[in-house]
Amino acid sequence: MKYLLILTGHTKGLGKAILDRFLSLKDIQIVTISRTSLELRVDRLTEIQMDLNDLANLEVKLPSLFPEGDFDKVILINNAGWIGEVKTVGKLHPKGIRQALNINLLAPMILSDAFVKAYSSLEGKKLICNISSGAAHKPLPGWAEYCSSKAGLAMFSRVAAEELSGLGFRVFSLAPGIIDTEMQTEIRKANLSDFPALDRFAKYKAEGHLSSPEEVAEKVFYLLTNPELFPDVVQDVRNFELP
Ligand SMILES: NC(=O)c1ccc[n+]([C@@H]2O[C@H](COP(=O)([O-])OP(=O)(O)OC[C@H]3O[C@@H](n4cnc5c(N)ncnc54)[C@H](OP(=O)(O)O)[C@@H]3O)[C@@H](O)[C@H]2O)c1
Repeated sequence: MKYLLILTGHTKGLGKAILDRFLSLKDIQIVTISRTSLELRVDRLTEIQMDLNDLANLEVKLPSLFPEGDFDKVILINNAGWIGEVKTVGKLHPKGIRQALNINLLAPMILSDAFVKAYSSLEGKKLICNISSGAAHKPLPGWAEYCSSKAGLAMFSRVAAEELSGLGFRVFSLAPGIIDTEMQTEIRKANLSDFPALDRFAKYKAEGHLSSPEEVAEKVFYLLTNPELFPDVVQDVRNFELP
């Protein structure tokens, strides 16, 4: 099976673990997008350095992101994300609001749309996986930007799934659980007055409740290589076990 993977946010955290897992496939071409580069010398991998907050630049670069080929399976994983300004409404800034929505919602929408345009006539399997969060479905004071952007992305995924099933695309909105990454480190640096759930998040780390990026990546890999076992658009890695 000849795979193509387009993955955002591959340089650390969950994205890095997803990259490593997919690199174990022999016949795969991978295009990654992050602001920095891992500078890996792997001929199956093309690392594109791009800030997904800059939507004008993303639009210009779109034609170079989707390689042509006789792929049996093409996968887009919108994984890059930002926690946003961890502050309550009334203390946010227009720049932060824009940035959170650009990275977490608008860039994934633009990439999904372009991915569909690029591969709708392809005969093989076509998958879009938008990395979601429990915060897409549950309000958390201090996370207005993050919750809103992830809720928007979850709804986008549900609409796209209905629209695109006739074209042979599957779309997932996949919550990855709570993972031990830099994003969690950033969350724990918030002020209690801005983020009332701070103690709970500090406890997750202190009591060892965070998943490792590798174990979550294994589940992402399982879902995307066995999509027929997952009929629903909205998925959560905590709701299924590996065989
Ligand atoms: N960690 C958790 O507990 C948790 C829970 C629920 C959902 N999630 C979601 O899971 C995904 C991965 O999170 P993570 O914890 O692995 O985050 P992370 O460790 O902070 O990594 C984020 C990745 O996104 C890239 N990125 C960030 N801003 C970007 C930008 N403006 N343009 C391009 N790339 C950008 C980063 O690369 P560069 O710095 O090189 O740009 C990095 O590779 C996110 O969508 C997050 O919302 C995480």
